[in-house]
Amino acid sequence: MEKTFAIIKPDAVASKNAGKILARIEAEGFRVVAFKRHLISKAEAESFYGEHSSKGFFGALVAYMTSGPVFVAVLERESAVAHWRTVMGATDPAKADAGTIRKDFGQSIERNAAHGSANATDAAREVTFFFSYAELI
Ligand code: RTP
Ligand code: MG
Repeated sequence: MEKTFAIIKPDAVASKNAGKILARIEAEGFRVVAFKRHLISKAEAESFYGEHSSKGFFGALVAYMTSGPVFVAVLERESAVAHWRTVMGATDPAKADAGTIRKDFGQSIERNAAHGSANATDAAREVTFFFSYAELI
């Protein structure tokens, strides 16, 4: 079993699609290890997405990710990292496959409904960024 880290992003929470996205997570066989509502601070967003700090969209990404509450989650199943990225779909909802979360709930390449760790190393870092050991049950 593998764990990955997910965010239901501010656009999906604001449009009341968080429950539908959680239902898909469960339907895909993930065990929800941890799940909480959270308002990401500017410092957290800048650190969390630090790999993109030199990109032109970084300021907009930080502003968006701090614009309203999110749900952060830890998800477990076989091949969790890769499977969650498949279920989410491509970064740009316009290019995402039919039936993916970003295709169905994303609004733009930036406001794309969900986050998923890129690899197992990132997943381990991201889980402990938002959750304490005692919250991982
Ligand atoms: P994520 O990290 O959120 O799961 O998304 P990802 O791996 O599919 O894409 P990544 O390249 O890591 O980009 C992180 C987030 O930045 C926003 N973005 N905006 N305006 C743009 O061109 C642009 N490109 C990326 C998206 O919110 C993307 O998910
Ligand atoms: Mg990424």
